[in-house]
Amino acid sequence: MLLPILRWPDPRLSQPCAPAALDDDLRQLAADMLETMYAAPGRGLAASQVGRLIRLFVMDVTWKEGQRSSQVFINPKVVELSPSRVLGPEGCLSIPGPVTEVERAETVRMHWTGLDGQAHDTVLTGFAAICAQHEYDHLDGILTLDRLSPEARARAEAEVAA
Ligand code: NI
Repeated sequence: MLLPILRWPDPRLSQPCAPAALDDDLRQLAADMLETMYAAPGRGLAASQVGRLIRLFVMDVTWKEGQRSSQVFINPKVVELSPSRVLGPEGCLSIPGPVTEVERAETVRMHWTGLDGQAHDTVLTGFAAICAQHEYDHLDGILTLDRLSPEARARAEAEVAA
């Protein structure tokens, strides 16, 4: 089922999210979130973006290149951020319009639970590292806009599609 995606400045997007429980409700939500993400189209979607303030996000960083590899992150934790930083363009399905330059750690070690209940502990690199940090921010109520200088933020806010 396609879910409506909240748009900035909906205050729910700025709320920290509560721990998620792996149950049938979450399995259905994750499936709906993936369907919604692919239809948007996007590469990542956090539960808070569909109005569910729980620590869950989905991503697929390869499908736009023709290979589906959906991942579901339940209660993710950032274990370690690399000291090396990269600056790159990011959009957000909740902030249609502007593409902003955001600084991120180049790699991130993340721990999370998968849909099968298995624990994962992986160092994410490349675009997956950037996407996972962006989605993880959503779980803490942090948007790309919050990571910009006041000047860049004002420019980005002016570009948000009506
Ligand atoms: Ni986003």
